[in-house]
Amino acid sequence: MKILAINGSPRAVRSTSRRLAQFVLEGAAEAGAETEMIDLCDLRITPCTACEGCSFNGICVFEDDVPLLVERMNGADGIVFASPVYIDNISGQMKIFFDRLADAIHYQLLAGKYGCSVATTHTSGGNEVVAYQNHVLNYLGVIAVGGLSVATSGDAGAVDGADASARALGKKLTEAIRKGFADPDQEAEIAGNRDFFRDFVIENRDFRTDEYERWVKLGWID
Ligand SMILES: Cc1cc2nc3c(=O)[nH]c(=O)nc-3n(C[C@H](O)[C@H](O)[C@H](O)COP(=O)(O)O)c2cc1C
Repeated sequence: MKILAINGSPRAVRSTSRRLAQFVLEGAAEAGAETEMIDLCDLRITPCTACEGCSFNGICVFEDDVPLLVERMNGADGIVFASPVYIDNISGQMKIFFDRLADAIHYQLLAGKYGCSVATTHTSGGNEVVAYQNHVLNYLGVIAVGGLSVATSGDAGAVDGADASARALGKKLTEAIRKGFADPDQEAEIAGNRDFFRDFVIENRDFRTDEYERWVKLGWID
């Protein structure tokens, strides 16, 4: 079982969001998962230009690191999103990455996985950023098992106080992957999204045949 954390802070190893996510991964590792951390700031990620090129063949016109990252996400059983709060929202790095996931969202490439989110902030917005990242997980067809935010007031060490809660979240994610995790509200939201995207998949079946057939095989198209 693999769990992948993706950190949207540009501060890499100095990032408190990364540290919080690392505690989540440590909890997951203690529960038996293989873990990996990826910092978006180490990757080349070009902002989406809405050319709609990916709609035709699933391949983005930009030759950067996003396809590899999506492949890594696809190869993982669990996904952890981590972001600092920037002006009451996720970091720009995280948003640019999320925008590049539109095709994965439309075709529900990561459906059936589990995830969770963490955020750090100086003062406020942490819970909202956790909720938004979990909402993006749902868009991807991924069930979020929980989330955690820490307001540091500028003291990076404050994250260490959330060590136990973060490890518990990692353990919970691992157990969800192992045994399942029911959340009727999230399941209804994901089913609603799938209903919405179904027309799109049917409409594009002549040039996205593999994806269309995958949806038929999964029983998402009659
Ligand atoms: C551009 C920028 C915007 C920020 N906006 C907010 C904010 O709106 N509210 C807040 O409480 N802290 C804000 N902060 C503080 C960060 O959220 C906080 O330092 C966070 O823990 C940094 O996480 P990191 O070490 O993972 O990058 C901001 C910091 C930066 C650099």
